[in-house]
Amino acid sequence: MLLAPLFPVGAGLLTDPFLQLPTANSVRVVWFTEFAGRESFVQYGSNLDQTTIAQTTQLSRMREDQRSRVDNQEEDGQVYTQPTDRPIWRHEAEVQGLTPSQRIPYRVGSMRDNGRMEWSGRYTLAAVPAPGQPLKILLTSDHQLMPMTPANLQKVTETIEPIDAVFLAGDLVNIPDRASEWFDDNRGGAFFPSLQGRANRLLEQNGVGTRYRGGKILQSAPLFPALGNHEVMGRFSTELPLNEQYNDPVPIENAVALYAKIAAQINPGNDPAIAQTWIKNHSFNSDTYEEIFSLPNTSPGGEKYYAITLGDVRLISLDACNTWRVPSLEPNARGRYRERDVDLSDANKWGYGQHIFEPIAPGSPQYSWLEAELNRPEFQQAKYKIVMFHHPPHSLGDNVVPPYTNPTQIIDRFPDGQIKSVRYEYPIGRDYLLRDLMPLLEKAGVQLVFYGHSHLWNRFDSPGGMHFLESSNVGNTYGAFLGETRRSIPIGFQPNYVPSGDPGGLTAIVPSISALLDENGKPQPYIASNEITVFSILDTATGLVSSYRFDARQPEGDVVRFDEFQIVR
Ligand SMILES: [Fe+2]
Repeated sequence: MLLAPLFPVGAGLLTDPFLQLPTANSVRVVWFTEFAGRESFVQYGSNLDQTTIAQTTQLSRMREDQRSRVDNQEEDGQVYTQPTDRPIWRHEAEVQGLTPSQRIPYRVGSMRDNGRMEWSGRYTLAAVPAPGQPLKILLTSDHQLMPMTPANLQKVTETIEPIDAVFLAGDLVNIPDRASEWFDDNRGGAFFPSLQGRANRLLEQNGVGTRYRGGKILQSAPLFPALGNHEVMGRFSTELPLNEQYNDPVPIENAVALYAKIAAQINPGNDPAIAQTWIKNHSFNSDTYEEIFSLPNTSPGGEKYYAITLGDVRLISLDACNTWRVPSLEPNARGRYRERDVDLSDANKWGYGQHIFEPIAPGSPQYSWLEAELNRPEFQQAKYKIVMFHHPPHSLGDNVVPPYTNPTQIIDRFPDGQIKSVRYEYPIGRDYLLRDLMPLLEKAGVQLVFYGHSHLWNRFDSPGGMHFLESSNVGNTYGAFLGETRRSIPIGFQPNYVPSGDPGGLTAIVPSISALLDENGKPQPYIASNEITVFSILDTATGLVSSYRFDARQPEGDVVRFDEFQIVR
């Protein structure tokens, strides 16, 4: 069923345009519609007198289902009773011949089959910023349609104007193949509306409701994301609800082995595209993320990890995320530490613990690419050297445990050979981020490591002076674990699963300007709150990373700059 888009302004387009992949003399403009149309284009220049035609493609995995909140569906299954394809088209036009540092007006248009034009508003675009050009870059992550996200982004634009670029350390939505999470969730806080000032989200705090519109950011500032676990769908199904498909990835080796057994039947012509799609559909994929964004595509991982220069900044965005599974040790938990008792005899139903999607250990294509990238002059000579990825190397949050390593599977059997239990262990000595990645980045002179995933704000310094920032208390929190507050971990395995503090052994830094106080009146080295939302800004004029908080319980209250540090070593 094709439903009318929920898009209050400029009703014919599904999103406003946004900017991607700026080069020294060009930038791409991308937008979405629910019709293919006859033609789509960008008009640009001081009188909008120049035109460039867009390429139009249909997103391949967009669906809605019983859990969608779209159009008239406000409870499960009211409109959609099963996963249903939703046709959505993407338009992309490259505006060329730009002069560095010059900003020019533009708008986009798409013509329906009946000839009717749908126009966006007017915004401005620019080529990549030149070296020396001062930039204000928003550091954000983990939006996921969480309650405070539109408030957060609205406060960003009310505080900092303009934002020149956005670095987003993963987890943009919850279920990546659910179209409405990107475009038009009817609670008003979908991904693009929140970052384009078109959200309409009611936030209730202390019985007071306030509506937030998000921030008009992406229309004029390029977005550079990293891939998070919420950008990855699990095994494909035409029947299972999308949340179940999302929660059902298995290691790619399983799908490859399965494919080898039946390749002759399902792919007699040995077509590599058929093989690739089959393996994706039987393991996991980030196709939607890769189709929505245009990112540098020259690494062995394609758009999944990349490097780009932006003014004085060299940014390396890595693919460091694993599937998230519950910590529960109960018999019915298909968790990070065990398989469900009822599944023991059927390996096809196993979850394989918190397996990593894209290898990053030494010897992997990603690690080798990173080593080479860190040695390139673009990186070595950059004033600001930043590495971004999703999974925390250092954190007080929940998701820093278990260690970031592929699980070791331990199968215990009864004397007759029948399986008694399937468990998973994650030795901290094999944490790829701590053991392999951090020394590499430290040696290469990286100044800032930026990440998300645990939904809190905290930061750290290595002994060598490399800075770590997790700025993911945007829409909600999953808590901070320090002192007596302990993570949910298996008893008896504490050397690997650290109950509180940073398992990597660093001390969280108390905010330098205005820390929140704990119940004993002591300054807190973190913000983990469902009422206070946080954002961070890198100002390349000064090299300062400033963090700001907004207490949503006081909608009329001020945004408070509470922390500042300089990314020099
Ligand atoms: Fe995450």
